Amino acid sequence: MESKVLPVIQGDYTLKDYDQMVKNFSWEDVEKEFSWHETGLINIAHEAVDRHASSYRKNKVALYYKDASRKEAYTYNEMKRMSNKAANVLLNHSTLQKGDRFFIFMPRSPELYFALLGALKMGVIVGPLFEAFMEGAVYDRLSDSEAKAIITTPELLDRIPLDRLPHLETVFLVGDSIEESDKFVDFNKKMKDASMHFEVEWLDRESPTVLHYTSGSTGKPKGVLHVQEAMVQQLQTTRWVLDLHDEDIFWCTADPGWVTGTAYGVFGPMLAGATSVIVGGRFSIDTWYEAIQDYGVTVWYSAPTAFRMLMGAGVGPMEKYDLSSLRHILSVGEPLNPEVIRWGMDVFKMRIHDTWWMTETGAQTICNFACLPIKLGSMGKPVPGIEAAIVDDQGNVLPPNRMGNLAIKKGWPAMMRQIWNNPEKYESYFMNDEWYVSGDSAYMDEDGYFFFQGRVDDVIMTSGERVGPFEVESKLLEHPAIVEAGVIGKPDPVRGEIIKAFVALHEGYEPTEELEDDIKQFVKKELSAHAAPREIEFKDKLPKTRSGKIMRRVLKAWELNLPAGDLSTMED
Ligand code: WT7
Repeated sequence: MESKVLPVIQGDYTLKDYDQMVKNFSWEDVEKEFSWHETGLINIAHEAVDRHASSYRKNKVALYYKDASRKEAYTYNEMKRMSNKAANVLLNHSTLQKGDRFFIFMPRSPELYFALLGALKMGVIVGPLFEAFMEGAVYDRLSDSEAKAIITTPELLDRIPLDRLPHLETVFLVGDSIEESDKFVDFNKKMKDASMHFEVEWLDRESPTVLHYTSGSTGKPKGVLHVQEAMVQQLQTTRWVLDLHDEDIFWCTADPGWVTGTAYGVFGPMLAGATSVIVGGRFSIDTWYEAIQDYGVTVWYSAPTAFRMLMGAGVGPMEKYDLSSLRHILSVGEPLNPEVIRWGMDVFKMRIHDTWWMTETGAQTICNFACLPIKLGSMGKPVPGIEAAIVDDQGNVLPPNRMGNLAIKKGWPAMMRQIWNNPEKYESYFMNDEWYVSGDSAYMDEDGYFFFQGRVDDVIMTSGERVGPFEVESKLLEHPAIVEAGVIGKPDPVRGEIIKAFVALHEGYEPTEELEDDIKQFVKKELSAHAAPREIEFKDKLPKTRSGKIMRRVLKAWELNLPAGDLSTMED
């Protein structure tokens, strides 16, 4: 029989003895590394960039950037200058001030990172938006946060409904031949003339940094607000989980539109003074393997969906590249299948290390550490300094091997501090003012390893991205043919889950293939491609509670041929 535990593979890891570190851990020891521990002057962009620019890392590459048309490298010193310039552009050509919301809505490019860091230097709150969002999704996020300015490209401009966003004063455009006006500013032109000196705004540990909108099972996406203090945990996990050393070349494949792309695409590695690779453009097997080979990537952080696609492509494409630089691989976003870990052992001769966390946790919280044996199917153990438990619906801690709510003891450094505009929603995450309840169900075994079992709510994880069924249902209802809609995640071998919609039609509409396509296109155009249903099933009527709520669990039971459970609240 094959073993279900993969032993530690010898290596010189930063975290050597997990139990010892847990026992002796204090966040203050991590803080000592930051200059603000002495000075009290805090700014994450200073810690991530300027601090290294005035150290031996000055001429070390901070960022390699590559897409179909560009290939560039920026040292820490250059990052300092470019982010200073960006801060001056934002300061001089908008009314943005400390605490205002500034959005980034563009494909990955070096300018995206300059703008992000520049805004943070000003103490402005940054809302990164994934470039695939369409008008409805963009509108919801910009209006909820009353964003004052945005940086985007001319191609994406028509997805920003300027006339419906009275707070949005300034649009910075990155592209060619931009026509400037009161509202529109040519970002690159202004960058050329901008001063490379900037006085960083000094803040305190509770000052906000980034605002990531994420999906829940009900209502519109919610704005998860993070603060400066998150950097403490982002640095610690970058050292101990990603195991980044000074000589490493690190590639986090996530887009900054998602929390992984800021916390570990920007902050973690730059706080640690490491070298990062950013690959623009869409996923492609050859581009990806080529990036590892050409940059000599040593530490690679990606997602199960991507690994499954690479796995599906077989060894053929892989054999064309030299991937021998790799020494540590990690995964996040959805359950990491044992099959994928076995593939990793087979082709890379390495374990793939799962990491569990969420937008709300702001940094990694439960992980498979390089210094620990991996139990197949487990996400690993809590990060030192984090207390995790399985609790019941009253907040009582359950003994090992009992399934329940995966919860984290309130008060870790990277914890979200607010749901924008929605204090009730924020409070609803916490039980007895003690436990943050994640919305995932899990169990912990007798050795303290956590095993993910599923979401307790109806949130869909598709290709590692959270999609709220309610947002998709609301959009479906705007389609003229649809009278009722229910949306679920359907298990899928590559994407984890796909979005499946059940819809009932208004009188006079016939369920045809054309209509099905039209509905898919409608959601794609109005919300985003990743939120569009891949499957649509027409029904005369949908299962609802007496109070009119769509019963997604019944839809799911239909789909999976499972018992539907208690139907006492269902209307007949
Ligand atoms: C949800 C959070 C910040 C990570 C990227 C997604 C699921 C995340 C794992 C994992 C199983 C995972 C959970 C979680 N998830 N990591 N290692 N194993 N499930 O962030 O969009 O906020 O989604 O992703 O369901 O609650 P997110």
